[in-house]
Amino acid sequence: MEKREKLYEGKAKILYATDDKDQVIQYFKDDATAGNGKKKGTVEEKGIMNNGISAKVFEYLQANGVPTHFVSKLSDREMLVKKVEIVKVEVIIRNRAAGSLCRNYGVEEGKTLSCPILEFCYKEDKYNDPLMNEYHIKALGIATEKEIEKIKEITFKVNELMKKFFLALKIELIDFKLEFGRYKGEIILADEMSPDTCRLWEVGTGVRLDKDRFRNDLGNIKEGYQEVLKRVTGK
Ligand code: TMP
Repeated sequence: MEKREKLYEGKAKILYATDDKDQVIQYFKDDATAGNGKKKGTVEEKGIMNNGISAKVFEYLQANGVPTHFVSKLSDREMLVKKVEIVKVEVIIRNRAAGSLCRNYGVEEGKTLSCPILEFCYKEDKYNDPLMNEYHIKALGIATEKEIEKIKEITFKVNELMKKFFLALKIELIDFKLEFGRYKGEIILADEMSPDTCRLWEVGTGVRLDKDRFRNDLGNIKEGYQEVLKRVTGK
């Protein structure tokens, strides 16, 4: 697999072309941002840890019938993925209240929700990723009704699978964000699943093992990611 030119650089990852037009290399950086880029920093080896965690998660999801962009882990910071056309929505599932749900709706942090909440946000930094609903998505031509149904179906399946996956590691999946892409006419899971994009609390202690350590200046950021990587890889 030959690595070619840089196609896109985001806040936490870079995409490179390969000699296969259908596959790209996803490179994980150590850069960390919060509040849509207002807070910036780096977390030593975050890219290595998120690549390792995401690879394991994608392998598990794929083995359980979830279509993902993951092809293989290439190196410490790189995975080979299918080249998708990104659907411009961020899909969030919440199992317990945290983050913006608490800020926007006055809910107490940690409150167990009587059913999971699924949220859509418009993936557009310049508008601050505003919340949107299915009517926005359809009316603005961001995705079709059929695609939205598929995205919801996959998202709820990922929630059930990932709750189980993390619980076996004594970690509770509080919430997470997914992104989807179109590949040869199908909707598949893209992006990453890591402590950058999930809230992960240790069972019993409630210790935060995710990016809230960076967002909220809780300290020992690297150690949180390391703990997740250790449990996920069993090393
Ligand atoms: P929020 O509480 O800030 O809305 O975040 C909900 C979940 O989604 C949390 O696990 C962090 C993740 N997330 C991202 O990965 N990227 C984003 O841009 C946002 C807003 C949230």
